[in-house]
Amino acid sequence: MGKLEGKAAIVTGAASGFGRETAVLFANEGARVVVIDRDKKGGISVADEIRKGGGEAVFVEADVSKRKDAKRAVEAAVDGFGKIDVLFNNAGILGPRGVYTEDFPEEEADRLIGVNFMGVFLCTKYALHFMVKSKNGSIITTGSDSAYLGNRGLSVYSATKGAVIAFSRVVAMEYAKKGIRANTISPGAGQTPMHAQLIEHDKEAWKKVEEGIPLGRACYPTDVAHAALFFASDDSKYITGANLMVDGGWTVRGL
Ligand SMILES: NC(=O)c1ccc[n+]([C@@H]2O[C@H](COP(=O)([O-])OP(=O)(O)OC[C@H]3O[C@@H](n4cnc5c(N)ncnc54)[C@H](O)[C@@H]3O)[C@@H](O)[C@H]2O)c1
Repeated sequence: MGKLEGKAAIVTGAASGFGRETAVLFANEGARVVVIDRDKKGGISVADEIRKGGGEAVFVEADVSKRKDAKRAVEAAVDGFGKIDVLFNNAGILGPRGVYTEDFPEEEADRLIGVNFMGVFLCTKYALHFMVKSKNGSIITTGSDSAYLGNRGLSVYSATKGAVIAFSRVVAMEYAKKGIRANTISPGAGQTPMHAQLIEHDKEAWKKVEEGIPLGRACYPTDVAHAALFFASDDSKYITGANLMVDGGWTVRGL
């Protein structure tokens, strides 16, 4: 028996990186998975991979920052699988890197807030409508180590990640008595397409990042996928309102 046997799970940003790995792991653990992404090609390929492996998956093309899309995506999960047991709010963007606040383009700030915060708010809000009825649900959101650090040039990104961690904590309290849990996962520097530019074109800088991490390497998609599996499954049934750092010790490294 898989850890998610009989459960229906939504994974946003599932076409790539952490989300892709998590969608596949959830399916391998028995969940029926709704793959949500604005990247059609990537999303279809993940759903195909899951089905080829004997799992169940549907892909819904959606931009989570758009109200209609987020609502449609969540409703598609209920139409397809009759329920939502797990929502993994993982879609996110980094935005411009290294641009200090006074020069940060306002439209980029709007975009970051739209995807990284509003996307989480909208999917959570719509999923809650169904979870409250079934008195069951685990909502997991991807935060970031950036929420806890003064990463220069990432002020707006970091703020959106702080926002979703605070948001999730309140949702956890609002719905604890209704059988719904909410937790966040905060990865450190991840080896995913989000950092492709750095990994591929600035190998020295990437090497330095990895050397600075106490456990000696970047965060792999599988590290986040296993943390998400923990929060999605009954293994974490007594845990809500928590944030789990998945950063190889980066935020507590000290001297
Ligand atoms: N990679 C890292 O170092 C790192 C560290 C901490 C937190 N995170 C967070 O992890 C999450 C996943 O990042 P990743 O590294 O796997 O990146 P990624 O770029 O590999 O994957 C992100 C996915 O989200 C999708 N997406 C983006 N905007 C969307 C939208 N509006 N609607 C629907 N889908 C959308 C993209 O198409 C992509 O498939 C993000 O929330 C990111 O902020 C990443």
